[in-house]
Amino acid sequence: MDRLAAVILAAGKGTRMKSETPKVLFPVAGKPMLQHILDTLKAVGISEIYVVVGYESGQVRAAVTGVSTWVEQREQLGTGHALAQAARYLQGYSGRVMVLAGDTPLLTASTLSGLLTEHKDNKNAATVLSAQVPDPAGYGRIVRAENGSVLAIVEEKDATPREKAITEISSGTFCFSWAKVGPLLTRLKSNNAQGEYYLTDILSLLAEEGEKTGAYASKDYREVSGVNDRIQLAWAEKIMRQRINQKLMLAGVSMVDPESVWIDSGVEIGQDTLIFPHTYIFGSTIVGSNCRLGPNTSLNSAKLGNNVFVRHAVVEEACIGDDTSVGPFAYIRPGTEIGCGVRIGDFVEIKNSRIGDGTKVPHLAYVGDAQVGNNTNIGCGVITANYDGVSKRKTEIGDRVFIGCNSNLVAPLKIEDGAYVAAGSTITADVPARALAIARSRQTVKADWRKKD
Ligand code: UD1
Ligand code: CA
Repeated sequence: MDRLAAVILAAGKGTRMKSETPKVLFPVAGKPMLQHILDTLKAVGISEIYVVVGYESGQVRAAVTGVSTWVEQREQLGTGHALAQAARYLQGYSGRVMVLAGDTPLLTASTLSGLLTEHKDNKNAATVLSAQVPDPAGYGRIVRAENGSVLAIVEEKDATPREKAITEISSGTFCFSWAKVGPLLTRLKSNNAQGEYYLTDILSLLAEEGEKTGAYASKDYREVSGVNDRIQLAWAEKIMRQRINQKLMLAGVSMVDPESVWIDSGVEIGQDTLIFPHTYIFGSTIVGSNCRLGPNTSLNSAKLGNNVFVRHAVVEEACIGDDTSVGPFAYIRPGTEIGCGVRIGDFVEIKNSRIGDGTKVPHLAYVGDAQVGNNTNIGCGVITANYDGVSKRKTEIGDRVFIGCNSNLVAPLKIEDGAYVAAGSTITADVPARALAIARSRQTVKADWRKKD
């Protein structure tokens, strides 16, 4: 059988990021760069994946999924040295091995499949994924022979002015016939400008051995871009977000101004949903169909049903049912579950609460640690006083309850079905079903209190 494995080199610190966080864990569209590569390999159908780690390896191991074997590179002596650490797991391996850098999150499955096919069809010992770029600075240059085969890859720091003028660069992604490449790894030398064992030198070693080498040029040069500093990170982010938006638009999601809409890679959005400008949809958010989101809205790991309207609002780790409208200027906090046909209006904050179907919280309210039934009305200015200075207390409000404006509901409290609370009350005791609770001093009117003008 033609075996296929992949090795991702991810042991470096990423010095140019100027960070304590390992470079491969920097997120692009909400997902670590390394995870992007792992997911793309999965899409290509490669499941045997080795990841070489070193700097903060514990952190890296904990942050991603889909790795078959972790390989330690204790000292980061170069990309060639990194691959050599994986070689002992691949002894006697006769299939193809794809090698990738952990900092190229934009690679697509179709390009990687193209590389694999090219490698196989041309019976190469090694095929490098290359690209023609407008500015090759920082990349290894591809030196080709007249017949198109690759003679060498020369790193920027070791390149002659003539080599520097070459605009075909190495993406750091390769396909190797392991039986030919594996044994050569011990022959890599570090006599170069950076004193490192360069993986790229494998190409010249193979060429010297008379083995067949080739380059497969990516159709879109942006795809092969590596992320070495935060400027390149911001650029990768922009490309990734464009891709996510375009994929969603092709699947039936409308965006009035895609440039101002940021959507993380794990997000799902249903057909005919319309997104207004300055809307940010992060984490594992799932949005149904026919929703209207924004403007100026942020959803973080939220779950929205169908026909949901959210505008000028922040929703975090909360669920919102069908036909519900939220905002403007609402803050829905973690642990909240809002039912169907609910209206959450302006300047309303809801935290860790359940709001039943058909209930209205139309304006200026704080509902925290509460359970609210169906078809209940929470008046303007109502507050659940859920915190006694020590612990959080629960408020239970039944179905068809009417809480009058500007009431304080001091938890723990139970207001049963059909009960009424008069406006301006401070409720400290349970209210039975269908009762009216008034908890405020009676108005006194002092006649002729003001002297005549
Ligand atoms: C590398 C290539 C260059 C190519 C470019 C593409 C070499 C020598 N250079 O340069 O030809 O154009 O990528 O983006 O290969 N790593 C390790 N262990 C090490 C060193 C690096 O695992 O000892 C990992 C890093 O974590 C990183 C990847 O290898 O994920 C690439 O290393 P990096 O330092 O970014 O290489 P470049 O200078 O970008
Ligand atoms: Ca790099």
